[in-house]
Amino acid sequence: MSFTRRQVLAGLAGLGVVGLGAGGVRYWLGRPENVATHDYELIAAPVDMELVPGHVTPAWGYGGQAPGLELRCRQGERLRVRFINKLEQQSTIHWHGIRLPLEMDGVPYVSQAPVLPGEYFDYDFICHDAGSFWYHPHTTSAEQLGRGLVGPLIVEEREPTGFRHERTLSLKTWHIDEQGAFTPFMVPRQAAREGTRGRLTTINGTPNPTLELPAGQVVRLRLINLDNTVTYRLNLPGGEARIYALDGNPVQPRPLGKEYWLGPGMRIDLALRVPAAGETLSLRNGPLRLATLEGVASTEAAGDWPPALPANPIAEPDLARAETLRFNFEWAAALASPADEAAGRYKYWQINGQAWDINDKTCADRPIATLKKDGHYIFVLRNMAQYQHPIHLHGMTFKVLGSDRRKIVPYFTDTYLLGKNETARIAFVADNPGVWMFHCHVIDHMETGLMAAIEVV
Ligand code: C2O
Ligand code: CU
Ligand code: CU
Repeated sequence: MSFTRRQVLAGLAGLGVVGLGAGGVRYWLGRPENVATHDYELIAAPVDMELVPGHVTPAWGYGGQAPGLELRCRQGERLRVRFINKLEQQSTIHWHGIRLPLEMDGVPYVSQAPVLPGEYFDYDFICHDAGSFWYHPHTTSAEQLGRGLVGPLIVEEREPTGFRHERTLSLKTWHIDEQGAFTPFMVPRQAAREGTRGRLTTINGTPNPTLELPAGQVVRLRLINLDNTVTYRLNLPGGEARIYALDGNPVQPRPLGKEYWLGPGMRIDLALRVPAAGETLSLRNGPLRLATLEGVASTEAAGDWPPALPANPIAEPDLARAETLRFNFEWAAALASPADEAAGRYKYWQINGQAWDINDKTCADRPIATLKKDGHYIFVLRNMAQYQHPIHLHGMTFKVLGSDRRKIVPYFTDTYLLGKNETARIAFVADNPGVWMFHCHVIDHMETGLMAAIEVV
């Protein structure tokens, strides 16, 4: 498939998007059609949930559930997903953390035309990297992600790892009241600060679940923060856990330590030694319990810590010849004009003096930086504000080099949690041509200016 952004903007609608006639697809659940090639049909549609006992929450889900169906693929293989839009508004799917061609990246007016209600779009790409990833729309994001259009994407390693057991834990804090009704996903005065938080924290759509795990085994827990706003301060008092991967990329295993801050969009793969049968641990967010992990009798011999996971095939940036670019993330709420706000244009944040306007389809025509294909780059990310920003880049994986606030063992990621007033350095090889979004993953920061396009030509 080849088309330019301009063709999309000029209204080349229907490209790869076909209307579903009557008697079209009848099954509701996304399901593998062909195990060998991992094909899925993934339907986005309203789904009623009971998050608050006795009350209905009118969520939106993928494959009849929210968070959405877990998609799986094997490293080096192709993932083909037919996305069917049964919502009453347009949508797309973006594959967070996956290095893929631009036309599969799911950004409306940049990589594809939006998928209209009743239409479908075929996503088809190779998963080069193994790890824990996720997917979500890139349209009307505060509402679409807020209502539940978020789901895990697991890319299995080529060869079996030393883990015999694993669980995916999708973390989301819902914007609902005591009756399960949605509350606003974006409140302007909160968007101008830390972001609009939800009230009810869940794992895999259940508040405070008890997860039964085989006693004495070492289990891989894939924790995915697919929330709009919340940074979870993960801790497991009394538990024996080691970090094996961050944001889909393996690290040299090390103890979890006191607390790990998992910002929106971020993932952590932990190895946990499950306690004896009948004993429990609590997985917490700061002092608050997220889940109870309970050992249940297992007939297997006790497990051991598996070796480190194999590295992903990511190009190593050469710092000696890298060009350095600086990006300042600024609070601009003081400049917000009442006229803009009245018109629904909220500009509270900017990158290097530029605020992205989510209602302007031409923003990506004015990239904030143009990189040379296969060039090596260091980005200096400077947070000029009191609020933290999980900074995410599409299309390429970067290496975190260091920070003026904390000690960093360099690692590859797609999202870096930039703390208040922190300056961090990242580096990567610009090996993927295209126009790539570069934004904060606190959704209401992204929708009120904190987004830019980085072009690689
Ligand atoms: Cu999960 Cu543009 O991002
Ligand atoms: Cu992304
Ligand atoms: Cu932010």
